Amino acid sequence: MLHPDIKEVLYSEEYIKEVVKGLGSQLTEAYEGKNPLVICVLKGAVMFMTDLTRAMACDLELDFMDVSSYGAGMESSGEVKILKDLDTSVEGRHLVIVEDIIDTGRTLNSLIELFKYRKAASIQIVTLLDKKERRVVDLQADYIGVNVPDEFVVGYGLDFNEKYRNLPYIGVLKKEVYE
Ligand code: XMP
Ligand code: MG
Repeated sequence: MLHPDIKEVLYSEEYIKEVVKGLGSQLTEAYEGKNPLVICVLKGAVMFMTDLTRAMACDLELDFMDVSSYGAGMESSGEVKILKDLDTSVEGRHLVIVEDIIDTGRTLNSLIELFKYRKAASIQIVTLLDKKERRVVDLQADYIGVNVPDEFVVGYGLDFNEKYRNLPYIGVLKKEVYE
């Protein structure tokens, strides 16, 4: 049943499953024997990370990081504040950063700088959704699920005011909900 606040489903549960399965096999091949540290950027990437890592057949470890960008409003400012740091040292580790969506690219840009400074052996980015037209910094994900149009999307981890994360599909919110 479609949630009454959703205008349109962009990606169905079945479609997301197929996309995640595909990314999982690519990552399995790339990281076989490397025991990567898979880093989930909370909270939006939680659903994606749990499904993605179950689609990866190689050995790996999981960790979580929660960051918020400084500055008010919907735009991220570029500087990130660490709300929850990793438990694991990244020094010498192969990192796979898992994101739900890349928008301006600023959040990930700062994370990459941080992990370079902490001497990670390698850093790759997997994002389920990529909003390329919104990018303000030069940042490319290594693995992209789907390119998404510039609309505010929710579901499968993505929220509006902490709501809708549990929807099994990704959809566009009705305008009257956020205006
Ligand atoms: P950057 O730094 O790339 O930030 O601008 C990416 C973060 O912005 C949030 N974001 C969204 N969240 N629906 C959401 O629920 C969207 O359409 C959307 N666009 C950007 C999200 O938190 C992501 O991690
Ligand atoms: Mg996020």
